[in-house]
Amino acid sequence: MRPQIVAGNWKMNNDLDEGRQLAKSIKEHQDDIPSDVTVILAPPFIHLSDISREIMDSPLQLAAQNCATEEKGAFTGEVSASMIRSTGARYVIIGHSERRSYYNETDEIVHKKIQLALKHDLYPIVCVGESLTQRENDQYFSVVEAQLDNTVFKLSAEDFGRVVVAYEPVWAIGTGKTATPEQAQEMHAFIRKKIQENFSSDAAENTAILYGGSCKPANAAELFSQPDIDGGLIGGASLKPGDFVEITKSFT
Ligand code: 13P
Repeated sequence: MRPQIVAGNWKMNNDLDEGRQLAKSIKEHQDDIPSDVTVILAPPFIHLSDISREIMDSPLQLAAQNCATEEKGAFTGEVSASMIRSTGARYVIIGHSERRSYYNETDEIVHKKIQLALKHDLYPIVCVGESLTQRENDQYFSVVEAQLDNTVFKLSAEDFGRVVVAYEPVWAIGTGKTATPEQAQEMHAFIRKKIQENFSSDAAENTAILYGGSCKPANAAELFSQPDIDGGLIGGASLKPGDFVEITKSFT
């Protein structure tokens, strides 16, 4: 059985006190969160250690939003995978579309980051997804396939076994425009089929594929009820503890 996951990507929001308060509020609702759902919080780098302490005695998991392409050394301003791991984080989001578009992250860069994350015992949450123009031009399958081919499909089967895939159509992120459950399911099924072709039926069956893009309490249940949607990567709604906890309860 593949895991059910809800991850909150806080992006560049919340100062330290606000972030700690948010983590605390979610922790206080722990009893409402189904025990078979893995819930992950992804605060900014600078708050990882504090949030790690805040959630220490709970099943909540911690993720970074990015990591460096290099192991260590003279790379001013960068944060390495091993530094992230040393905070207690177990996951790292890699290749988010905001990194790809605002910071020119290519598939090559994404692939390097994934390899370092795996080397340092982190589970990479690897984001893929097409832009609005690519969707309108019916290129969405080929775009996502190329993103997978150039990154996670280059891994060994063993390493791939530690990857979480997140499908985030760029046109649905922060726009309030959610992919319909049918659109999301169609892409998730496509991704799973590609995993089967590149690795095995077992790999396809066991890989968690999350949906991201304007996911909120009002649409989470319908999205998560799709056979190939294993949870969500949540932006805006992850900043509201009530909404975020509600989303964790949206599996049927
Ligand atoms: P929103 O939920 O704000 O659309 O953001 C989705 C996202 O980018 C999560 O990584």
